[in-house]
Amino acid sequence: MNILNQVSPKRFRTIDDLLAFISIYDDYKRTQAYQRLLRAYKNKIKGSVCVEGGCGLGIFSTEMVKLGARKVYAIEQNPLLANLARNKIDNLPKYLAQRIEVVEEPLQSFQPRRHIDVLVQELYGQLLYDEDLWVLEHLKFKPDVVLPNRGELLAGVVSSASYRDAVVTPGVIEQLQGVLVDGLLEEKLTELRFPVLEWKYGKGLTHVRRSIKGLKGDLLCFGVSLTHNEKRICEAGKCPNWSYVWTARAGDKFEFTFQKSSASLGCFFRWIR
Ligand SMILES: C[S@@+](CC[C@H](N)C(=O)[O-])C[C@H]1O[C@@H](n2cnc3c(N)ncnc32)[C@H](O)[C@@H]1O
Repeated sequence: MNILNQVSPKRFRTIDDLLAFISIYDDYKRTQAYQRLLRAYKNKIKGSVCVEGGCGLGIFSTEMVKLGARKVYAIEQNPLLANLARNKIDNLPKYLAQRIEVVEEPLQSFQPRRHIDVLVQELYGQLLYDEDLWVLEHLKFKPDVVLPNRGELLAGVVSSASYRDAVVTPGVIEQLQGVLVDGLLEEKLTELRFPVLEWKYGKGLTHVRRSIKGLKGDLLCFGVSLTHNEKRICEAGKCPNWSYVWTARAGDKFEFTFQKSSASLGCFFRWIR
């Protein structure tokens, strides 16, 4: 979805975020995977004080009160999404709604007066760290449990010959050196073989592998994998919210860096000669 008329930059950003984030609710696999994860932690959630960090419409806040959470803070920085969450929660039976408080502010500035037992979050970008996971390293509280607490950026090297089509020809792919493009080619679901980046709550982001020396193929693909401890929750290509990201090979070694600017976290990718 694109905004086609001229609006103020602030309104543009707010609506653009709203449009980007509501589409996640088309991804039923993602929703179900999170619900399974929350149910697996039912004993921890029951009677606890919980946070949904970046609550969107607040469906996991609702799930947590249904599982018996004593109190859930549903934190959302986008005012339009916070409105939608409030409306949705107001329509719940009173005994559930009264235990959820929508807090309209950035998660990194939220300072709860009580201890937080459980934090649920879905702040994973297509390239793992390019959305909002960094926020979890700047919290003003220390939850006992973060769900999910880990993620990887997986990669694979393939031959563009097996992706030939009439439009995205190997010649087109060759022009994309140094550029990461999502949704370019149809994923075959077997390409993602090894981790290149890992993020863990409490540890942050680390490079696991930078070299593809010895691997045959002129096309590199990446895909995010959400994990809790070692268990996979969602994966690019399988949960439609995340697709594969492609680039033409231009060497054997590459590097990712992520830098915060005022509005967003930029991903920088380069081949190392
Ligand atoms: C991918 S959506 C997930 C929504 C919801 N947790 C879910 O999984 O259905 C991410 C949400 O987090 C919000 N968000 C991102 N960064 C945030 C931050 N620093 N503080 C508060 N909300 C944030 C976005 O506006 C968006 O609604």
